Amino acid sequence: MIYEGKSLNVTLLPNGIAELVFDAQGSVNKFDRQTVSELDEATQALKSQSDVKGVLVRSNKSTFIVGADITEFTGLFDMPAEEVLTWVAKTSQVFDRFEDLPFPTISAINGFALGGGCEMTLACDLRVADTTAAIGLPEVKLGLMPGFGGTVRLPRLIGADNALEWMTTGRDRKAAKALAEGAVDAVVAPEKLRDAALSMLQDAIDGKFGWQARRAQKQAPLKLNKNESMMSFSTAKAMVFAQAGKHYPAPHAMVDTVANAARLDRAGALELENQGFTQLAKSDAAKAQVGIFLADQLVKSKGKKQAKAATKDVKQTAVLGAGIMGGGIAYQSAVKGTPVIMKDINQGALDLGLNEAAKILGKGMQRGKVTPAVMASTLNNIVPTLEYSAIKDVDLVIEAVVENPKVKGIVLKETEQNVSDDTVICSNTSTISINQLAESLEKPERFCGMHFFNPVHKMPLVEIIRGEKTTDATIATVVAATLKMGKTPIVVNDCPGFLVNRVLFPYFAGFSKLVMDGADFVAVDKVMEKIFGWPMGPAYLLDVVGMDTADHASSVMADGIPERMQKIENDPVTLLYKSERLGQKNGKGFYNFSVDKRGRPAKKSADEAYELFAPHCADKRDFEADEIIARVMIPMANEAIRCLEEGIVGSAAEADMALLYGLGFPPFRGGVFRYIETMGLANFVALADKYADLGPIYQISDGVREMAVSGKSYFSQSA
Ligand SMILES: NC(=O)c1ccc[n+]([C@@H]2O[C@H](COP(=O)([O-])OP(=O)(O)OC[C@H]3O[C@@H](n4cnc5c(N)ncnc54)[C@H](O)[C@@H]3O)[C@@H](O)[C@H]2O)c1
Repeated sequence: MIYEGKSLNVTLLPNGIAELVFDAQGSVNKFDRQTVSELDEATQALKSQSDVKGVLVRSNKSTFIVGADITEFTGLFDMPAEEVLTWVAKTSQVFDRFEDLPFPTISAINGFALGGGCEMTLACDLRVADTTAAIGLPEVKLGLMPGFGGTVRLPRLIGADNALEWMTTGRDRKAAKALAEGAVDAVVAPEKLRDAALSMLQDAIDGKFGWQARRAQKQAPLKLNKNESMMSFSTAKAMVFAQAGKHYPAPHAMVDTVANAARLDRAGALELENQGFTQLAKSDAAKAQVGIFLADQLVKSKGKKQAKAATKDVKQTAVLGAGIMGGGIAYQSAVKGTPVIMKDINQGALDLGLNEAAKILGKGMQRGKVTPAVMASTLNNIVPTLEYSAIKDVDLVIEAVVENPKVKGIVLKETEQNVSDDTVICSNTSTISINQLAESLEKPERFCGMHFFNPVHKMPLVEIIRGEKTTDATIATVVAATLKMGKTPIVVNDCPGFLVNRVLFPYFAGFSKLVMDGADFVAVDKVMEKIFGWPMGPAYLLDVVGMDTADHASSVMADGIPERMQKIENDPVTLLYKSERLGQKNGKGFYNFSVDKRGRPAKKSADEAYELFAPHCADKRDFEADEIIARVMIPMANEAIRCLEEGIVGSAAEADMALLYGLGFPPFRGGVFRYIETMGLANFVALADKYADLGPIYQISDGVREMAVSGKSYFSQSA
């Protein structure tokens, strides 16, 4: 044994080949600080051994190395910039020292070699992958760039264009693709990986591979003349701008770093990488995106833990109502392998529900994502019915009939009479109190909310709403069923609007007030989309939600939380609803919807809407972007804070993920709590105070005021 650490060890084989094996104590190998320093020690040990002729790097796990340890990032990136720079420079030098070993090196890649794992393989002279391998540099997804030499070595190995494509999209490559692009030298069957690597290394030792030239190529300037260079980097810049837009600094920084380093050798290029990495590590976007990664892990592990406690396995589901949501839920259950009975009172609706599923599958087939076998099995998994008797043996019923408490009450009662004693019953209501609906049931303990988002097959979130009488066992079963459907469950407590709609409607109210004070809804949408980063501004979103749904939901919110959410008389939503401008569903709302010449959906601000609003609004005037953002976002943030303070949601991290997954909150802002923390709680309090006279949705809670004064963070415990 040449070296033995906690995460890796090195042994010398009789033929003079040393095997450096990553074998961390946890389930996967990753580059935490400990592993980096062990790699350095192992490199020193290898260098000092006179009888070593070459090094094989491999993993003893089912996957190579998954990347850096992201849980260390928050602490690391909180350090002053100079210290982050020192840390990343020192770490990348560890990889340089490995690369400089005086004999050939090869990595044998199985499973994932991502981020730092990929950079480890790039520090080797040769790479062989097995057919399970996937290699990539996903740092961009965290708002970062590779920091252990990736921006230097990959472009020199596979060309700047390809390398920038890898890095700016963050997408990994399967073994065959990596081979075709020159990122690996051979691909073999998994059982042959070690032998193949040993034999290639032996060839290198025997002088049959020009490994020295390969190494020199990684350490020299890029082989591009001035013209090629200009072409290559200006194309990359334009592509990145088109794809990432201006809110995500990381991909832009990568293109600049690789371009500026093109004429430099390894040392010079690495210096630029170290600086670029540090700048990004200190950016708000990286903080938000790393925060999302950690919050997502928290949500996933919480979900898994809850699901583990489930005593009931959902093998057969029923959906009541074959409308937009019922059809979508049935599809989702079926495609993930759980048969589903879809019940409606109307044969036409059943046909539409089935058609909808077939349409989604058809689109998947066109894109090569769905096989004919999956299409057939999914459709076979959905059994339409008009009869209650068909649901008698199901494990889980998801009610998705019209949003009317009376109808839902009757349907739930009938359901209970037709299922077995231990069937779990859920409602997909978006606004009606779960406690109120539970009153229709003899056994409310087996009942909870299961709130899917539209379109079901695309939206990752399911908000699971615990009523006062819901048991832990019921929640566990529903969480497990949600995971089985491929969705992310977040459990919240019952209240008007639950979490997501409760924070969305004050945002809409802020928007209504802004329009009534003279703002142009198109200008508001523009600011909220282009500057704040929402996928749709509030007017467009209201058109998608539908004015009937929005009007109804705001009545529910007004009844439930009258102290803050009283309906505003003659606000734009009410006016549009009353004149039957329901939004996208009937082609007219704030915008008029049509189809353009190429058959694509188009929208144009509606003169009719302006005319409707004019008598009830102040004269039109321009608002600064900052004011627009403040006036719609403060009410959302305030309500999210109240939800946390009241225990509706378990943590700021879960609230942020719910808004990200349920509403499409801009990822570079990380969620509503991350947004106010980035602003600084004291600044948020000051900003809200400035608008406090606009009404109760602008008035902040004592809780946040105290947190701001005492310098506390919403993320200190959770993520
Ligand atoms: N549409 C959305 O964006 C959305 C999002 C989240 C939650 N929801 C909620 O999902 C539920 C359904 O909404 P939707 O948009 O799919 O409505 P929808 O009008 O498209 O569909 C409702 C379906 O229920 C059927 N139905 C009515 N009474 C029934 C009964 N007694 N038994 C069986 N079926 C019956 C109708 O025939 C219709 O097919 C509502 O509670 C809604 O609030 C909707």
